[in-house]
Amino acid sequence: MSRNILVTNALPYANGDIHLGHLVGYIQADIWVRYQRMQGHTVHYVCADDTHGTPVMLRAEKEGITPEQLINRVHGEHLRDFTDFDVAFDNYHSTHSVENRLFAEDIYGKLQAAGLIETRAIEQFYDPVKAMFLPDRFIKGECPKCGALDQYGDNCEVCGAAYAPTDLKNPVSAVSGAKPEMRSSEHYFFKLSDPRAVEFLREWTQGTDANGARRLQSEAANKMKEWLGEPGENKLSDWDISRDAPYFGFEIPGAPGKYFYVWLDAPIGYFASFKNLADKSGRIDVERFISAAAAGNTELVHFIGKDILYFHALFWPAMLQFAGYRTPTQLAVNGFLTVDGAKMSKSRGTFITARSYTEQQLNPAWLRYYFAAKSNGSMEDVDLNLDDMIAKVNSDLVGKFINIASRCAGFITKRFDGKLAAPDLDAMAVYRSSIEAGEVARAFETRDYSRALREIMRLADVANQYVNDHKPWELAKDAANTERLHTVCSTALNQFRVLAGLLKPILPTVAEQVEAFLDIAPLRWSQLTDTLPAGHAIAPYKHMLTRVERKQIDALIEANKASLAPAPAPEASSRQRHAEAQQKDAQAATTADPHIGIDDFTKVDLRIAKIVSAEHVDGADKLLRLQLDIGEERPRQVFAGIKSAYDPATLVGRLTVMVANLAPRKMKFGMSEGMVLAASDEGGKTPGLFILSPDSGAAPGMRVK
Ligand code: 2FM
Ligand code: ZN
Repeated sequence: MSRNILVTNALPYANGDIHLGHLVGYIQADIWVRYQRMQGHTVHYVCADDTHGTPVMLRAEKEGITPEQLINRVHGEHLRDFTDFDVAFDNYHSTHSVENRLFAEDIYGKLQAAGLIETRAIEQFYDPVKAMFLPDRFIKGECPKCGALDQYGDNCEVCGAAYAPTDLKNPVSAVSGAKPEMRSSEHYFFKLSDPRAVEFLREWTQGTDANGARRLQSEAANKMKEWLGEPGENKLSDWDISRDAPYFGFEIPGAPGKYFYVWLDAPIGYFASFKNLADKSGRIDVERFISAAAAGNTELVHFIGKDILYFHALFWPAMLQFAGYRTPTQLAVNGFLTVDGAKMSKSRGTFITARSYTEQQLNPAWLRYYFAAKSNGSMEDVDLNLDDMIAKVNSDLVGKFINIASRCAGFITKRFDGKLAAPDLDAMAVYRSSIEAGEVARAFETRDYSRALREIMRLADVANQYVNDHKPWELAKDAANTERLHTVCSTALNQFRVLAGLLKPILPTVAEQVEAFLDIAPLRWSQLTDTLPAGHAIAPYKHMLTRVERKQIDALIEANKASLAPAPAPEASSRQRHAEAQQKDAQAATTADPHIGIDDFTKVDLRIAKIVSAEHVDGADKLLRLQLDIGEERPRQVFAGIKSAYDPATLVGRLTVMVANLAPRKMKFGMSEGMVLAASDEGGKTPGLFILSPDSGAAPGMRVK
């Protein structure tokens, strides 16, 4: 049965360049869309720029232009980058659009009518010079944990601690340098803690779509269980959806000077882009895809990064549900990108922009292929290992795939007037049975592209083995073998055609070149068990893909090295960092209750740890590298900002207390797998840091409660 699917990608912020970290999710979605279309399904694939918020406003001001001018320019740049990487949206719109304002107002009005909006006064840092409230990322100060200077208001880049901006020592506004003041202001909240919302989300996050597939990957569904708590519990806080003027966004109807927070109207931008597409095309029934009453059997699939799961699995479905819209069928969540095993870094040149990649003349097909080979449909991080990429592209794509055509096409052109013979059906049988078994199709459907590629490359090996076994170059030497030569080369080219079809979602441009070379109509999935008839004429072979050279990669890294690596301005900070902050922001959701429940406390897994080793870290002023035994198979490595207070030698053998379930963090010096607790008298009379010691009798691994 033919499916009707609306597919979206997360909307990139209009205040930064597209980089390879973004492209993981865009390429994964684009592959899925192309695969579905090859299967004959109808897919509308839309995206837009996420334009609102303080960073855009301030950046425009700095550049001396209006926010509208800024977002128009960036829109062009983003669209060009996506196009270059064959990420082919049907529409690339903007959240600063008429459609988005109308949808946002409609959704807000319906949530209000449902009794799910309320106002509350909150206290927030205010910049008296700029006369504006400051988002966390626009406050800087000294880290409350390790004392590092010049840290943002949400987390410390030196020790990794996360905190509230009010915890910072000596805070200053990153906008004007002024000392911020606490001020109160009335904010609007979406009542996510309402029992209706909680009950709905409990069901929705664990449920399946109409095809029986889980709406959320199992890792995401489990995360949601954790965030929602046990039935009967209510762990959700209300969501602060307003910001005070000055703000670049939509003013809230009936609330002068109050604006929708950027994250309120960002996902609504999916629908705005779709509506804009429908208005332009005149052939799409929007209601069928977005209204709860009319959605029927259409699907809505959002491709997002794991950093914005909270927004898409809680706020967004709840907003839709209680405003009478349809909820998403599936969230396809991808992990972060690391380069050579580490977080992308401007100083190392691994924070690679899409633009620099194409400007250095690297082929986007290489990256699409490599990202596909590393994507398995899970939320795991994807590592771009540069040497591995070179090896894989050269050996799989050029060495195995393209090689088939380059070894056989010349004979057909020179000896047989460009016309094929009927292929050897026995040799095609492996191909036919693989396609009929549906392994590659299932892998594409479940976004396990690495599995799809393993099977496709197995088939490429079969074709190469066939050519090796029949040696057309030998057959060509003896006129008696002419017919055999014709069959062998035609068979190999038929195999090549099928491989091009299987690879087409991943390598659309290469597949187009193959279609031109074989002079065939665009390949569709249902035709992959067919063969080309005897007498079919092909075009002369032209080389379709070159090998990657190490020096090209080196030049790319060099081009991305930031000179002197200045600390990124907040508006230029990476999507990852920004979104981590957003997520924290979302989770905090400012209900302004100073208490935590016992459940919040028990979430922290505190353990007695024995310090097995402690050493200085080259290049780190404040850190010690500790190995901590907590009764596990191997000790945990933890970087602790206690160098100023302890001689490492005095720590070895001591027992202390660590947080054992803190998410592991990749730091400049290696992985940190937890955190050691230490007391300090912030700004008080007793300087120093004091780690904790348990009473005698405590043993490594004991839980502290
Ligand atoms: O994290 C981000 O980059 C956001 N701009 C994503 C928004 S996705 C959707 F909600 F619009
Ligand atoms: Zn710190």
